[in-house]
Amino acid sequence: MQKQIHLVSFLINSPINHTVLSWADKTDNRVKALGDLALWQDLAKTLERGMFDGMFFADTPGVFDRYKDRVDEAVRYGVCWPSHDPVVLLSALASATTHLGLATTMSTSAYHPWTIVRQLSTIDYLSGGRAGWNIVTGHLRNEHRALGLEQLEHDRRYDRADEYMDVCYKLWNSIGDGAILADKEAGIFADPTKVALVQHEGEFFRCNTVGPVLPSPQKRPVLFQAGSSGRGQQFALQHADVVFAIEANLAGMKRYATTFAAAAETAGVKAPGVSFGVQPIVGGTEAEAKAKLDALIERMPLDGALARLCGTMGVDFSTYELDRPLQEVATQASQGLMKAFTSILGDRPFTLRDVAIKWGLSVGMPQIVGSPEQVADQMEEIWRETGCLGFNVTPHVMPSSVSDFVDQVVPILQKRGIYRTEYAGTTFRENLGL
Ligand SMILES: Cc1cc2nc3c(=O)[nH]c(=O)nc-3n(C[C@H](O)[C@H](O)[C@H](O)COP(=O)(O)O)c2cc1C
Repeated sequence: MQKQIHLVSFLINSPINHTVLSWADKTDNRVKALGDLALWQDLAKTLERGMFDGMFFADTPGVFDRYKDRVDEAVRYGVCWPSHDPVVLLSALASATTHLGLATTMSTSAYHPWTIVRQLSTIDYLSGGRAGWNIVTGHLRNEHRALGLEQLEHDRRYDRADEYMDVCYKLWNSIGDGAILADKEAGIFADPTKVALVQHEGEFFRCNTVGPVLPSPQKRPVLFQAGSSGRGQQFALQHADVVFAIEANLAGMKRYATTFAAAAETAGVKAPGVSFGVQPIVGGTEAEAKAKLDALIERMPLDGALARLCGTMGVDFSTYELDRPLQEVATQASQGLMKAFTSILGDRPFTLRDVAIKWGLSVGMPQIVGSPEQVADQMEEIWRETGCLGFNVTPHVMPSSVSDFVDQVVPILQKRGIYRTEYAGTTFRENLGL
């Protein structure tokens, strides 16, 4: 079978996905959707109609509080705040769909491994094997403040996450083959000799119990990871099935794919699939699409975009001049995002204003702007040139940007034979071809 593009929709359970103030568009339904499961379920059905591999929720629990060292701008403009819990949504989405993968971000700082295994394996069990987990270590300062925790230093968070995964694997493997009998006549539910006690005493975690959920169809959720610092990549190579990456342009994506493949070879492991973040802006014509992009930028309050930028970067840019070229700034918060940020600077000098606008649109993911044919062309080019698994497609105005893509771009990719016309597998992992 010819290799195919894989698509995951990149969402957030908040008033916006990534585009600051997109909720204020006349047609946008996201504020309503926060309290209306049917709207989320409709969206999931649209994505399934568009044969997406999955629906994926980013999550930054807490609030962006770095800009001017306050929360005001994030709260005023609803910049990923409130941050409703995406895990709670997944079972409702599972009940509305049959094939769609259902993935969410859960931070290793915010939950004990046992809690994540329990929640996500329950979703995997309920959904017939469609759960995914984006493993993040918690780069947002406020996540830690919300929980009354000290934010560990960048690499330490990854050390801790390695041990975290060790506990998860032990819990996922605790219930052996043939352990579950559910024998009504004998009154025996399971054979205790086949259920291993997890006894973990590590530097960061203790866990003394057995696996909390019946072995689910995938045994463990599909594991995603999105850190792209050296330490982040090392973590990804050890644990991830798929990595999410943000690069500002084709050259950056090619570089990323080559470097990552080389790192996998050096480490002697199979490279995880790479999914690049993109933000398609589709119009009937190129001019119409460009007008849509202009409208998104025009509506965006700059201080809202700065709140987003400063939050993810872990840097307060409020004292920087808006129209002076930016220099790279080192940060403990997110070296990977900083790399994406500097790659946006490109060859010509960019200013803080330029970068804030880019960030406010899509946290650095490139816009793919044009007619359906042009959008399909660009996605195909990236896919062919980089050998990536596919894309994290982030919508802007909801739900129109999702339905436009599904109704106008997907049929073109299908006609070219590079995108599925039906789901081949049953589980998320199978559909992703992993
Ligand atoms: C595409 C993408 C999606 C991400 N999604 C989240 C998220 O939902 N929540 C979060 O806390 N961090 C998220 N991050 C941040 C990373 O997971 C990572 O913690 C951060 O970039 C720091 O690691 P690094 O320095 O290795 O890149 C995302 C990063 C990327 C590139």
